[in-house]
Order: sequence, then C-alpha cells, then structure tokens
Amino acid sequence: MSTRIVPDMSSSPALARYRAGPAPFALVTGATAGMGEAWAHALAAHGFNLLLHGRSPAKLAAVRDAVLASFPTRDVRLCVLDACALPPDARELEGGVAPLNLRIVVNNVGGSGGHFESVLEMPSQQLVDEITCNAVFPTLVAKVTLPKLRTGGPGLMLNISSIGGIWPSPYISVYSASKAFNRLFSMSLHGEELAEGTDVDVVCLAPGAVVNGRAMQGDGSAMTPLSSTWVVNAIAAISPRPWRQRPKPFIVPHPAHRYSVAFLRLLPNTLANSIFRSQMVALRDESRGVGKASRMSGGGNKSRTPTALGPKATQAEQQQVSTAAPAPALQNGPPAGAAGTQDTAAAPVQPRAATNEVMAG
Ligand SMILES: NC(=O)c1ccc[n+]([C@@H]2O[C@H](COP(=O)([O-])OP(=O)(O)OC[C@H]3O[C@@H](n4cnc5c(N)ncnc54)[C@H](OP(=O)(O)O)[C@@H]3O)[C@@H](O)[C@H]2O)c1
Repeated sequence: MSTRIVPDMSSSPALARYRAGPAPFALVTGATAGMGEAWAHALAAHGFNLLLHGRSPAKLAAVRDAVLASFPTRDVRLCVLDACALPPDARELEGGVAPLNLRIVVNNVGGSGGHFESVLEMPSQQLVDEITCNAVFPTLVAKVTLPKLRTGGPGLMLNISSIGGIWPSPYISVYSASKAFNRLFSMSLHGEELAEGTDVDVVCLAPGAVVNGRAMQGDGSAMTPLSSTWVVNAIAAISPRPWRQRPKPFIVPHPAHRYSVAFLRLLPNTLANSIFRSQMVALRDESRGVGKASRMSGGGNKSRTPTALGPKATQAEQQQVSTAAPAPALQNGPPAGAAGTQDTAAAPVQPRAATNEVMAG
C-alpha cells in the first residue's frame, strides 16, 4: 500500500450531486488493490465516508489506514466477503449498508483468471469463480444497495465493465462474456431507474488496460494509465456538463481508450472481430512462449500448442484494441513473451506474473 498525497476535493462540483444528506457513504467493492483502492482514496477526497469491500481483512485495514492518514475525519468501515462464494451470502453486505446514508456504489471487483485459455482448458472451478465474481456478485451488490441509493437523495451506481466486454475476445471468453453481462446489466438497470423515475444514476464504465500494480505493472502511459489517473478521468466523465446534468449510461472514461473504441467502432463488425481474434491468438501464443512470428504474419499461430499455462496475466483486450488503433496504442506493445492482461482482479486467481508491463489500451 503506497503512501498517497490526495488533495481535498470535498468542495468540488464533480460529485456534489451525490454528497446529499448527513454523512454520505460510498461502497467500493474490491477496494484492496488497483482501481478499487484508487476509488477509495478519490471518494474520500471528494468528501465521502467509505464502506470498503475485500476478501482480506489485513489488506482492507491497510487501505483504511492509508485513507485515514489523508482524511482523518472520514468514517471508514470494512466488509469482508469472498466474491466467489456460492451461494453468495449477502448478509454481511446487507448489515454493512443498513445503517448508512449510501449515496455511491462502485461495483468494481472482478477480473480474469489471468490466463489466456480456451474454455476447454479452463478448470471448471475457475470458470465458475470467474462468472461468480464478475457477474453474480455485482448483481447481488446491485440488488442489496439499490433500495438504499433510492432513498435520501441522488444516488450513483458505477458498474465496472471492460473494453473486452464490447468485442468477442477468444481465450478470455468467460471474462469477455462476464464483462458484456456487466455492460448490459448496468444499461438495463439504468433503464429501470429511468422508467421508475428514481434519482439514481446507473453508469457502466469500461476501462482498457490500466496499471494495477499486479498483473498490470508500469509507470503509466497514455494508453495504459495508472489506476489513480483512470479514476480521476472517470470522475471527470461522470461530472455534470452545462448541457447534461446526469451522466451517460455507458462511458469509456480514459481518452486514449475512448479513441481506440471509437476507431474500432468505425470498422465493420467482421473486421473488428477479426482484429480482436488475431490479437488474442497472438497474445495467447506469446503467453506460451510460442514467439512473435505468428503475430508478424498477421493471423497468429494457429497451432494452439498445448502448454502448461503459467499464471500469465491477461490484459488482452486492450492490447487488441491498441494494435487496431492509431499510433499511440503501439507504444506499449507487448514485448516478446509477454502476455498483457488486464483485469486480473478476479478471484480464484493466482498470483500473476508481472509479464504485462505492457499493454496498450
Ligand atoms: N486493470 C485493467 O487493465 C482492467 C481493464 C479492464 C477492466 N478492468 C476491470 O476493473 C476492475 C478492477 O480491476 P483491477 O485491475 O483494478 O483489479 P485488481 O488490481 O486485480 O484488484 C482486484 C480487487 O478485487 C479483489 N478481489 C478479487 N477477487 C476477490 C474475491 N473473490 N472476493 C473479494 N475480493 C476480491 C482484490 O482483492 P485482493 O487484493 O485480496 O486480491 C482486489 O481488491 C475489475 O472489474 C476488472 O475486470 C480492469
């Protein structure tokens, strides 16, 4: 846990709409690393008390202490819950949010197993864990917290998807599908809140590659920002505009990721899908040490050499996008043998090799 110097933003208009009522709280799931940890610091800076979720009491306590070092007057509470548990047990979460004036929920926890694997190669338990952590748990969090968000003032629910949830991503198929679930679930929920006339904004945020200090190492770059930078961009993207007071339901907050997505969206679907597919095959091959030759030849090595996949991170989606996108995307291109992967957050996930220094969004 790093020491941070976080400026006090509690008078900023950015999230002012949600700082309603006495002692407003924000819930952040997966708050012990990466973007979740960055959300914790940023939301404390914006004047919110925190309910931090994670699976490790020690890590949660460390994040709490770091937040309190910057903002000693915030009320920071902890909720320990395994997001992979089946059946999910929501009692801890229900008990945690019950007494709070909950105004913001960041449904952040999630990730891939850190591997490039076909569905047939994935151990069944990993497959189930990934779907549970990425899709079932956030759905449960939404069900438990929406009633709280609806009462006492404007509320905000942020559901973290991924660019990998927009286009089919072979070899991280389960991850990609679960992130597509996040996106459609979030946008459908947005529609429900509109139809019900509530004051709750439901927003899906889609990151590309982001440094999380684990699978995604690095100092940050235009294509692969630091978690803290990505969160700053996300807050700016949610903030009211003169022409729009409430946020859009789907946002790619980081500019370089947004340009990449916009570029891919200009292409016919078959071409965009084929670019993703080629990149995924190349990343999978690189993760197995098959080499770059296949990548250079444009289609990836089709041999699908069976190997014992190490705990390579999967930052794939972004790298794919990066190759398709204009020049800046290439700056972080994966070095030989590196398997970029992004969201390694997931649960049953093993330690990830720091192979993904790279990535481009
Ligand atoms: N980083 C990227 O490039 C990227 C790109 C696209 C989308 N995303 C999405 O953004 C979100 C955050 O990603 P990140 O890279 O910041 O993640 P991360 O650094 O790997 O952190 C993941 C967080 O989730 C927690 N977590 C994982 N499994 C859990 C479980 N079973 N129960 C409870 N907590 C669990 C981790 O706890 P521990 O500290 O105990 O492991 C950690 O706090 C994820 O939804 C991810 O899919 C990330």
